[in-house]
Amino acid sequence: MLNDRQELAVTTDSLTAIAAINEFIMRSLRYGRDAEQVILQAIAADPTCAIAQAYAAAYYLSQESAIARRQAVPFLQQAQRYQQQATEREQLYIRAIVAWSKGAISEAIEYHHNIAQRFPQDLVSVQQGQYHYFYRGDKAGLLQIAETVLSANPDHADLLGMVAFALEQCHRLDEAEAIGRYATHLDRHNPWAHHAVAHVMETQERAEDGIAWMESLADTWESCNSMLYTHNWWHVALFYLKQNEPQTVLSLYDQRVWGQARKASPKDQVGAIALLLRLDLKGIDTGNRWHQLLPHLRPRLHEHSLPFQDLHYIYAIARAEQSDAVNEMLSSIISHAQTLEPSAHKRWMDVAIPAARGMVAHAKQDWLGAIAYLKPTLPQLWAIGGSHAQRQVFQQIYYHAQLQHEQSGRSVQHHQPALPANVPAFA
Ligand SMILES: [Fe+2]
Repeated sequence: MLNDRQELAVTTDSLTAIAAINEFIMRSLRYGRDAEQVILQAIAADPTCAIAQAYAAAYYLSQESAIARRQAVPFLQQAQRYQQQATEREQLYIRAIVAWSKGAISEAIEYHHNIAQRFPQDLVSVQQGQYHYFYRGDKAGLLQIAETVLSANPDHADLLGMVAFALEQCHRLDEAEAIGRYATHLDRHNPWAHHAVAHVMETQERAEDGIAWMESLADTWESCNSMLYTHNWWHVALFYLKQNEPQTVLSLYDQRVWGQARKASPKDQVGAIALLLRLDLKGIDTGNRWHQLLPHLRPRLHEHSLPFQDLHYIYAIARAEQSDAVNEMLSSIISHAQTLEPSAHKRWMDVAIPAARGMVAHAKQDWLGAIAYLKPTLPQLWAIGGSHAQRQVFQQIYYHAQLQHEQSGRSVQHHQPALPANVPAFA
């Protein structure tokens, strides 16, 4: 038994394994590169270390792709195989990851809360709990789980970054900025705290401040994984968009966002789509960039990891004029929704599916269809997760459709939106 860098007992006697676990913890909390290789080193050093196996599984699950979900399976099996000899905390963590792998997110969250109350140094677990809250659109939970462990870690820069982001999502903007800045003051290599402050500035439309803040810290993102590297630059691009500098935005897209993306990564793809979409809404010519994304989106058609992501993929596919693929994905989403437990089923049926139809309609310039499908979903869109800034694009699409329609001088009343073939209207 050895202690990790969080002073928590880990069931291993391998110094090599614990060193790699410590590195993994640090990279996880800082969104560092190559976390996968590091945790695989720990497992190679001690395959019986159950929590290392669970960390690897969690890494793959967080990729939110079908391939990565399959990659997680053997690690989960090994984690469960050695679970009995593990500590109570490790067992709780393993159960949380197993629950996640089964789509039992509420159960996973309960385990992370349990860990937070009893082992408040375990910030990897807190971060994981926040991840689930984030994609459920539960901003109160996002804050609560981080605050649970705050008194035990009052000056932990990484935890303060988590708290700052949660406060921003709860619209406690002044506190979020103060804590995010303090976290950065404690440790400048804190990309999640930078990101939290950027969100405050985005919400307050302080584009100039946002550019200055983010660009003054961007050198530290070189060690980030592609998800946060591209996402932080995505925020910078949004500030430049606000400043009406589309050429800078396009250049950031090419060099920092899609340019530095792992092309097969769902989250990196979503960021690229979200930026192109915003450029579209401003009427800026994006050239053939939609078509360039297309080959990378094909594996996404039947995954349905997160509704928030699906709305992006289907827009991109529709925007690239791939009607067959759009219909295939819509049908697949509907089939997927039938397999889910009641609350997830409702979220997909009431929000994600009509919103997906609205996205398709907008991409096809069917303004009335976009209005008709998106309008009832807007008050409920929080339920598909993502940040306020990320979800804002759905409102922008709705208002853009409305504006386009008004300019055409027709009424939106009594419109029956056009449906893609083979897709039941109210499935
Ligand atoms: Fe963000």
